Amino acid sequence: MISLILHGGAWNIPNEIVGAHRNGVSLALEKGWKILERGGHALDAIEQTIRSMEDDPIFDAGKGSFLNELGEIELDASIMNGTSLKCGAIAAAQNIRNPISLARMVMEKSENVLLTGLGAVRFAKEHGMPVCRNDDLLVPRELKRWKELQQSKSFSPKDSFRADLPSDTVGAIAMDEKGNIAAGTSTGGTPNKHPGRVGDSPLIGCGTYADSQVGGVSCTGWGEGIIKVVLAKTVIDHMEMSGADGDAAALFGIERLKKKVDGYGGIIVLDKNGRPSVAFNTPRMARAYRTSEMNAPFVEV
Ligand code: GLY
Repeated sequence: MISLILHGGAWNIPNEIVGAHRNGVSLALEKGWKILERGGHALDAIEQTIRSMEDDPIFDAGKGSFLNELGEIELDASIMNGTSLKCGAIAAAQNIRNPISLARMVMEKSENVLLTGLGAVRFAKEHGMPVCRNDDLLVPRELKRWKELQQSKSFSPKDSFRADLPSDTVGAIAMDEKGNIAAGTSTGGTPNKHPGRVGDSPLIGCGTYADSQVGGVSCTGWGEGIIKVVLAKTVIDHMEMSGADGDAAALFGIERLKKKVDGYGGIIVLDKNGRPSVAFNTPRMARAYRTSEMNAPFVEV
């Protein structure tokens, strides 16, 4: 059994950009799937899947990310190997084209789990990863949004998960032919965020978790809410401690998010057998999955 599931954000995705989301998640699935089919490791599959969405400007990750209050792009990402429980993450890091690859570098080339801001960028340079300019990640759509938000005094980042503003955090979970499960998440965070603000995506147990004996989880949505209920690990614990299947655990997580902190978002899950599940309480969620038991991929927005 091999299996791959991914998401490209959960929000009220307008009709006119549904097609672009569908294409983005479809292409990302194809990239990761090829790696799994060739017998590649789950980590390689999710890294390439997430890089594909970071490079696609339709998503709030890598190129196309939201700007912070100062008009800068600060990126958060995490990755976890469910077999060794090794994990790596970066937060509030600028000038990084593919944050998920830097998170993996932190996991594999340091004794640390999370590097932030200038320290994360310094680590990238020390390990030969080229940095880019803020402008290389900036797209006209987000510059326009940022300018409009400067005029709007009443905007709260939480509004972005209820109204028509995007929350296109991306994430993926894979199980390879050896049964290794890996999960990762990457985001530009929330629109007009305070410089230095860190969401759930780079926090292990909040936006991402993987344990090959139980399953993997990646979350999207209102980061401050997701952190408060430690969403990814809550879903994993529900599977491990209560014996819930992936569908029930994903639903449990999303209901908990709403009930405890009035939060909105989406969750993807792979259980230890590679079975995919999804739950969300937003009007739409961009998602795709495939397992070796399916003849064709599932893609939906
Ligand atoms: N879930 C992404 C964020 O709040 O930063």
